[in-house]
Amino acid sequence: MTTIALTGATGFIGRVILNHLLNRGFSVRALYRPDSSSAPKITNSVEWVAGSLEDTASLRTLVADVDGVIHCAGAVRGTTLEHFKKINTTGVEQLVQVAVEQEVPHFLLISSLAAREPSLSSYALSKKLGEDVLSEYRGKISWNILRPPAVYGPGDREMQPLLKLLRRGFVPVVGSKDGRFSLLYVDDLATAVISLLGSGRMVDGQCFELHDGHPNGYTWGEIAAIATQLNGKSAHCFSLPRGLVSIISQINIAAANLFGYQPMLTPGKVRELFHPDWVSNNTEITQAIDWQPETSFHDGMKNLFY
Ligand SMILES: NC(=O)c1ccc[n+]([C@@H]2O[C@H](COP(=O)([O-])OP(=O)(O)OC[C@H]3O[C@@H](n4cnc5c(N)ncnc54)[C@H](OP(=O)(O)O)[C@@H]3O)[C@@H](O)[C@H]2O)c1
Repeated sequence: MTTIALTGATGFIGRVILNHLLNRGFSVRALYRPDSSSAPKITNSVEWVAGSLEDTASLRTLVADVDGVIHCAGAVRGTTLEHFKKINTTGVEQLVQVAVEQEVPHFLLISSLAAREPSLSSYALSKKLGEDVLSEYRGKISWNILRPPAVYGPGDREMQPLLKLLRRGFVPVVGSKDGRFSLLYVDDLATAVISLLGSGRMVDGQCFELHDGHPNGYTWGEIAAIATQLNGKSAHCFSLPRGLVSIISQINIAAANLFGYQPMLTPGKVRELFHPDWVSNNTEITQAIDWQPETSFHDGMKNLFY
């Protein structure tokens, strides 16, 4: 039986990848942080390894004798470059090093479309640096990088407020009305991961963007049209001025410092949100492996709310 080591299996995307792996008959060894509020229920179907990306001994246990690594753990919230780099860059380095040491055949990194624009935020830069670290291992391990755009689906915390607003018929337009962005339903990301694992060395050393099958992404107008169709009544668009969102992000940072949490909305995230082009390209991945996305944004919203 093929055994896969998975990081990030307690998070939104990793949990879905884990379920897909188990449903497809893979044997899974998964990393979890015992102190985390999302520590998993231990069941027989998964071999859970307690540890973290900072704990090399736990990473050695995680990857011992596995057939492949899916590295999905990452920091998506935070303020400083130091925080993001510790997890999204150094974390990749630590894990790929032990995977090379133990001669693991394949390493798959879940990066982000944000890595295409590393100047926008500490998050984006840390993901790009994580990709660069992995690329340096060319020839020592077979690897691939996936760059998903914004991912949504059951269990997601970040997109929920937006999706709930759409369900109620309100469309908050962030940035220009002509700005375009791609989206991806979480199960489609998981099937891309499984297809890549199946294709092995054939596509070694490639970085693939992904989207949900809507080639030029969506505009807010198209999102409003989908909400109108699903709700059966006209959706109302309203603009969120950049100045206002920036002020909210500053207040959020102050609150995060006061109450000790890692914030999502920061000035860097505001720069990402107002970037006009988050359109990704599926061509390379669909030519390289047998994968097609199945869930458009219309169908994804329908699955979630209707
Ligand atoms: N969500 C999106 O729209 C999106 C889009 C593109 C790319 N991505 C990428 O997809 C990956 C997963 O994102 P997500 O949305 O599922 O985030 P998430 O729900 O916050 O999950 C993050 C996962 O990483 C784990 N993790 C964080 N720091 C760790 C550390 N130091 N050691 C070990 N594990 C650690 C978390 O463990 P705990 O449960 O213990 O906290 C959790 O399992 C990230 O790499 C992110 O950059 C996400």
